[in-house]
Amino acid sequence: MKAWQLKGFGLKNLVLGETETPQPKTGELLVKVGAVSLNFRDKAIADGIYEPHLVPKDLIPVSDAAGAVVAVGEGVTRFKVGDRVNSHLYSRWLDGPPGPDEPAYCFGSPLHGGLAEYMIIHEDSAVRAPDSMSDEEASTLPIAALTAWYSLVDFGQLQAGQSVLVQGTGGVSIFATQIAHAMGAKVIATSSRDENLEAVLKLGASEGINYRKTPKWEDEVLKLTDGKGVDLLLDVAGGEGLNQSIAATKAAGRIAVIGFLTGQTTPLQLMPVIFRQTTLRGIAVAPRSSFDRMNPFLDEHHIRPVIDHVYPFEQAREAYEHLARGAFGKVVIKVS
Ligand SMILES: NC(=O)c1ccc[n+]([C@@H]2O[C@H](COP(=O)([O-])OP(=O)(O)OC[C@H]3O[C@@H](n4cnc5c(N)ncnc54)[C@H](OP(=O)(O)O)[C@@H]3O)[C@@H](O)[C@H]2O)c1
Repeated sequence: MKAWQLKGFGLKNLVLGETETPQPKTGELLVKVGAVSLNFRDKAIADGIYEPHLVPKDLIPVSDAAGAVVAVGEGVTRFKVGDRVNSHLYSRWLDGPPGPDEPAYCFGSPLHGGLAEYMIIHEDSAVRAPDSMSDEEASTLPIAALTAWYSLVDFGQLQAGQSVLVQGTGGVSIFATQIAHAMGAKVIATSSRDENLEAVLKLGASEGINYRKTPKWEDEVLKLTDGKGVDLLLDVAGGEGLNQSIAATKAAGRIAVIGFLTGQTTPLQLMPVIFRQTTLRGIAVAPRSSFDRMNPFLDEHHIRPVIDHVYPFEQAREAYEHLARGAFGKVVIKVS
């Protein structure tokens, strides 16, 4: 089969070639990949800055894929040939709390990912793709949408009428806006760009704050929430801004600690955490059971992923470069 393989770190070492088509063993599905989408993680893996010691030689990269089952191994019962499926990043985290070694079984490193004509997915880890979506659309779900869903629903316990703040207009935050709006929650979005704020208002946010023009954006959030703060905040920015997130969240509110766009460390001011009794919870995507619940919700609420650009298979490197420049919505590679 045709496959992109990472022969060394750096995009120049991402090479299109031929490799043996894998055969499904007991319990496994052979999936003809329709499309993959890129996440920050994929670029960081290619650049050698994401757990580089775990990246195997000649890795087929990219975790997030959608496609059709074309062959099944012995004993498979959950899926049949012809079913459309999604890959699930944490391939062994199926339900309940995570085990201690989930990162060892992630697609796109250390397991082979979907940037190839075919990929192997164990039937336990595959998820039925939404009927209403093309493969290009469904490929955007495994990390960005599922992280948003798990943060809002499983961790956040968000209810209609409650308020949620989403930071910036990246993949996680756009999905969070769409899902929270469909749940009947009030969404406050931040962005560095007014044109992006206009775009997220059209997707369901009810208020937008430009965090460049309003550096103390937490004060604005308090004004918009009768001085109380939001019920739930999805923090993708990380860094010292986490202290602002605590100030913008209501007493006994929840913060999903998701990203680290501005930094991986922060001097945390403890007194506001104590007095406001904030729950801070690290989020690492979600178990498969959460993905199983999300896809029917997306179908039911007619939520369409926002895609910035779809690249042909041969232009995978250009897709990585686009991701590095920044995008409004997901960057997708059509495989077949
Ligand atoms: N823990 C997990 O399970 C998990 C899952 C997915 C992603 N992540 C992490 O979450 C972060 C976001 O992921 P993503 O895929 O949504 O990224 P992305 O699509 O690359 O989004 C980047 C956007 O974040 C916004 N941003 C940057 N700095 C900001 C700041 N200081 N305050 C507010 N917004 C800021 C910008 O929006 P504007 O241009 O509108 O300003 C930018 O366009 C990354 O760090 C990623 O590694 C973690």
